[in-house]
Amino acid sequence: MAPAMISLARAASRLATTAAARGSGLAAPLGAAPGLSARRHLQSSAEPSKTLKVGIIGAGRIGQVHAQTLAYRCPSAEPLMIVDYFPEVAKSTAAEYGIPESGSDYMDVVNHPDIQAVWVCSPSSLHAEQIIASAKAGKHIFCEKPLATELAEVDDVMKVVEDCGVKMMLAFQRRFDPNFARLRQAIVDGVVGDPFTFRLTSRDPAPPPVEYVLKSGGLHNDMAIHDFDVARFLMGCECTEVTALGACRVDPKIGSEGGDIDTALTMLRFENGAFGTVDNCRQSPQGYDQRVEVFGSKGQVSFGNNYPSGVEIADGASVRSADLPHDFFLKRYEEAYKNETIAFVDSVVNNTPVPASGWDGRAAMVMAQAAKKSLNEGRPVKTSEIQA
Ligand SMILES: NC(=O)c1ccc[n+]([C@@H]2O[C@H](COP(=O)([O-])OP(=O)(O)OC[C@H]3O[C@@H](n4cnc5c(N)ncnc54)[C@H](O)[C@@H]3O)[C@@H](O)[C@H]2O)c1
Repeated sequence: MAPAMISLARAASRLATTAAARGSGLAAPLGAAPGLSARRHLQSSAEPSKTLKVGIIGAGRIGQVHAQTLAYRCPSAEPLMIVDYFPEVAKSTAAEYGIPESGSDYMDVVNHPDIQAVWVCSPSSLHAEQIIASAKAGKHIFCEKPLATELAEVDDVMKVVEDCGVKMMLAFQRRFDPNFARLRQAIVDGVVGDPFTFRLTSRDPAPPPVEYVLKSGGLHNDMAIHDFDVARFLMGCECTEVTALGACRVDPKIGSEGGDIDTALTMLRFENGAFGTVDNCRQSPQGYDQRVEVFGSKGQVSFGNNYPSGVEIADGASVRSADLPHDFFLKRYEEAYKNETIAFVDSVVNNTPVPASGWDGRAAMVMAQAAKKSLNEGRPVKTSEIQA
């Protein structure tokens, strides 16, 4: 890319990052713990430098994305080590992205004397223990969603992170996607007026293997959690009530062996009086399906799917897009992954609050647990009913 293009791209990504951060910061309850003082953000045992030295735990699908982003797309970060349960995977990933060290034991990242921040990209069931170990070693933490698979674990994690005075950001990358960030800004600018209803559609192209489902914490906690966070981000207030329908319609094994559902419709009611639906499925023949609409007293804001190209075919059959939407999250949210990485590194380097916190992760998880309870009990569930 030519230098001028690079600086334009950086400026655009900074804009999206700023818009996302500005959007999330406008609603007082989002992101901050009740009573958490600004001073808390300044208490860090890991001394930040202008170039943040980081380690990565997990070199799977999302670990590869973060390794690439940290190596090539975030000038203020320097990845020093990547580990994976399978050392050969860590080694080949390290070689591919020019990361000097690799291994198989996550404690090697945690105890590395030069590493200041840890990227937790392992299966969800391991997040809590790896966050706690990292915090106790004085490292800042960037954690993939969800924070943990049980709410009680989330509370344990949050306490240790606060006690250790390190920063922790949860990877809710959609906040940093240019479409989501712009849509949030339009709501903040008053385009919609008083929000009445919203519709979030989020469907994966193909279901994951049962082995993934078993370690995921279930569809609401693993997949819909992004939508629950986006709903809070867009509404700028808390969800009060959840009503869920769900079934196993795509892959019977997800139900019989994974004990989970693969198709769900969840209704959310918010403090501002707005209500809306989250429409999830583990399979979508037309590609990764990510659409949003928010409707209110003054108007409506919406966006549809992103495509690899804008080419349209018009012939005797129909007028149509030449392509299907992007095939999965890696491509669809490429820009968002970069923006969230830059935002977290900036917050550590400049000692500012993280733009998507553990408290945001906890709130989304409460909604996920309310959805599961609603599904099991066949009734609307107040989020206030969900206790650790
Ligand atoms: N934000 C997003 O868009 C997004 C997308 C996908 C996954 N995720 C989250 O990222 C996490 C990982 O998901 P994935 O799809 O990359 O899974 P994955 O199975 O592809 O990768 C996980 C990796 O962790 C490794 N691992 C297992 N135990 C380990 C240990 N003790 N120490 C080090 N490494 C270990 C595995 O060998 C594997 O390579 C999950 O929590 C998931 O919810 C987030």
